[in-house]
Amino acid sequence: MDKTHHANSPWETFWKENPVGFNATMVQSTLFFAKNLAHELPIQADDRILDIGCGPGYLIDDLKGKCAHIHGTDISEKYIAICSEKYATEPEITLSVSKAYDYGHYEKIIVEQRINRVIMLSVLQYYQNKADVRRLILSLKETAAKQKFSCLLADIIPVKHSAIDDILSIIKHAIKKGYTLKFVRFLMYAIFSDYRKMKKNGLLQLDELFFMDLAKEENLQIEVIKNLTLHTSRYSILINF
Ligand SMILES: C[S@@+](CC[C@H](N)C(=O)[O-])C[C@H]1O[C@@H](n2cnc3c(N)ncnc32)[C@H](O)[C@@H]1O
Repeated sequence: MDKTHHANSPWETFWKENPVGFNATMVQSTLFFAKNLAHELPIQADDRILDIGCGPGYLIDDLKGKCAHIHGTDISEKYIAICSEKYATEPEITLSVSKAYDYGHYEKIIVEQRINRVIMLSVLQYYQNKADVRRLILSLKETAAKQKFSCLLADIIPVKHSAIDDILSIIKHAIKKGYTLKFVRFLMYAIFSDYRKMKKNGLLQLDELFFMDLAKEENLQIEVIKNLTLHTSRYSILINF
C-alpha cells in the first residue's frame, strides 16, 4: 500500500458496497467504449491486458476470446466475486482484489503476467486527488522499466465539463440502442440514491494540461484521445511507457 495515502475515501466505501443501481447504464457505457476501442486501438490476439477497476467485468465480457490473457482487479470484493463466478471456466482470465492505491500490486501483476496493455476505464474520477493520479503514473513508469506496456486511462472528466452535454449524449445513445427505460431508471437512481449524495463529495476532474505537464516532466509519450467513451465532454489518455 502506498505509504503516502490514508483512510478509505467515501467513494471507496461506496464502490465496495457494490451499488447495483449503476449496472444497467455501466454495461451500456462499457460496451460503447469497447466498440470504439476495437476501432481506435484494436486488441491483438497476443495482447495481455490488465483491467484496473474492472467492476462486474463488462469490459472483460467484451475482450475475452480476443486476446491471450486478461487480469481484472478491483477494490470491491463483491465485484471480483461476480467475476470469479462468471469466468470460473476461462483459464485466460485471472482476477484479484486490490487495495486502492496499491501500485505495488499492479506492478506484481504486470511483471508476473507479462502484461502489455493496461486499461483503466471510468476509475480516475473516484481517486481522491491529483497527487494520487501522479503517483499512479510515476509508479507505472517504474514498472515499465521491468515490463513494457501501454496504459489507457479512459473516461477522464475535465475541469470545465458540461453535465447537460453528457446527459444529452447518453439519452441519444439510449434512444438509438433502445435502452431508454433503463436509462430513465438510472436517472431516477442517480437523482434519488446514494450516488447523488456521493456526487456532492465530488468526482475528480483533471484537465489535459495536467497530463501534458507530467509527460513533459517525466519524458513520457502520451496521446489525448477524444470520443472513446459515451460522455462527450470526457477524454482518454494513452501513455506508451
Ligand atoms: C464506474 S465503475 C467502472 C467499472 C469498469 N471499469 C467499467 O467501466 O465497466 C468504477 C470502478 O472503479 C473501481 N474503483 C473505484 N475506486 C478505485 C480505486 N481507487 N482503485 C481501483 N479501482 C477503483 C470501483 O470499484 C468500480 O468497479
